[in-house]
Amino acid sequence: MNKTWWKEGIVYQLYPRSFKDSNGDGIGDIRGVIQKLDYLKELGVSIVWLNPVYESPNDDMGYDISDYRNIMGEFGTMEDFNELLEGMHNRGIKLVMDLVVNHSSDEHKWFVESKKSKDNPYRDYYIWGKGKDGNPPNNWGSVFSGSAWQYDETTDEYFLHLFSKKQPDLNWENEKVRKEVYDMMKFWFDKGVDGFRMDVINFISKVPGLPDGHVWPGALYGDFGEHSLNGPRIHEFLQEMNKEVLSKYDVMTVGECPGVSPDMAKEYVGENRNEMNMLFQFEHMGIDTDGPKWNYKHWKLPEFKTIMTKWQVELEDDGWNSLYLNNHDQPRMVSRFGDDKRYRVESAKMLATMLHTMKGTPYVFQGEEIGMTNVKFENINDYKDLEILNAYDELVKGGIMKEEDFMAGVYRMGRDNARTPIQWDNSENGGFTTGTPWLKVNPNYDEINVKNALEDKESIFYYYKKLISLRKDNEVMVYGKFTEFDKDNLKVYCYKREWEGETLLVILNFKGEEVSYQIPEEFKRRNGEIFISNYKDVEIKDEMELRPFEAIVIKY
Ligand code: NOJ
Repeated sequence: MNKTWWKEGIVYQLYPRSFKDSNGDGIGDIRGVIQKLDYLKELGVSIVWLNPVYESPNDDMGYDISDYRNIMGEFGTMEDFNELLEGMHNRGIKLVMDLVVNHSSDEHKWFVESKKSKDNPYRDYYIWGKGKDGNPPNNWGSVFSGSAWQYDETTDEYFLHLFSKKQPDLNWENEKVRKEVYDMMKFWFDKGVDGFRMDVINFISKVPGLPDGHVWPGALYGDFGEHSLNGPRIHEFLQEMNKEVLSKYDVMTVGECPGVSPDMAKEYVGENRNEMNMLFQFEHMGIDTDGPKWNYKHWKLPEFKTIMTKWQVELEDDGWNSLYLNNHDQPRMVSRFGDDKRYRVESAKMLATMLHTMKGTPYVFQGEEIGMTNVKFENINDYKDLEILNAYDELVKGGIMKEEDFMAGVYRMGRDNARTPIQWDNSENGGFTTGTPWLKVNPNYDEINVKNALEDKESIFYYYKKLISLRKDNEVMVYGKFTEFDKDNLKVYCYKREWEGETLLVILNFKGEEVSYQIPEEFKRRNGEIFISNYKDVEIKDEMELRPFEAIVIKY
């Protein structure tokens, strides 16, 4: 197993729209990020993944790019970006950008041309098809509701959009498209950026002929998954990208890959595959949903442990895990996997302990380090995410779901839970902006904010800071072999990490109640010392009385 900076690093995911507004227009921007670089330095993270900052009409908040080589006006200028990059590098922080190339914006000049005529040189940059008896070319539904095809009058054809109709899919079968993407990647690498997080990268190769997808019970459209996830040419495309671009730079890559198993993952991130370094798998993100994300499914801890452990074990010798429990598309982790009320602080620290003591690279999503929580807006109009708004139209207005059931789903799973602005202090709008925030601030900013966190030595922030600094001095946290104990235990997740004669035993109580726990036989009657824990006064005993959400890491 090779040692590298991106295995040893910690990534901070920064969603710029909601991070810090410097000019009072209610939208976070690059100068806002520059103002807060010392905050990131204080936390100790070594890599920042910046969500898209490119020119975009913002139908999907920057994931619909109209110019890959320019900065979105609302976020600032290229000069601001250059200053940001320099400011990060001066502080020893690497910058990873978002690469969104399954689709572009319909306002990208390629698409504007593509639409004009069937013989336009850019026609084949996108995926066009003829209708069948007044219906789209196939039955696929889009991720953001409705058909995945949009009719265009000019040429009497439909174009494919797996996401919104303002996000037409690029045609990766076309060599020219691939070359454009590679050139654009080089443009950013030559500026000095340190890597890419690749948006739905395993969607780029589609099965030729685009066959109809399976229609699941209750679904309005066919599922495109089978015919566009991990498609027939995906590995060829990624190996080509690696050869043409990635292999020429010392950069980090992490692919967003829904619908990937550990076996498939090894083909994407295996050390000798020459594709990507890491990927985001989604198995644990599906644990509490049944079909559409708005439907809740009850889950038990062993199911969660089985998934987490499986990925640890399967990528032990080949490949590398990305460790995350939330991001800009997922609800806040403390609300989902912990207790965001009575035990908010304890459970946030417990979950952090897990993320930072597993094998892989931990990702901290902005606000996680102060234990930010989900939000509940009563009025649907206070939500800005098109996924929520489109689903509301289709399901609630369409009479398929009762409004209260849908809103319960939004409160639990909606993407805007993660996108509310960072709560910097207890001044108006949590100190995020002097104007009107583009998305309302979570009303709990009075209590949960960065200022409070920095003033309290026992805060979640300082716990993260400690975990991050321990990782820098303890290779066992990075490279140690992972072994689980008591996999059927309904309340406790327990595992060890071993590396060059050092062992960490990790004991995590996932419940908001006291739990008695016998430590694994091999650690009984041995002398260990507390490495980190989220409660004070921990006594190491063979039978531990764990407090609610207690996390204990013992070093032997
Ligand atoms: C995944 C991104 O994380 C999400 O925010 C976006 O809506 C889709 N891909 C489409 O780009």
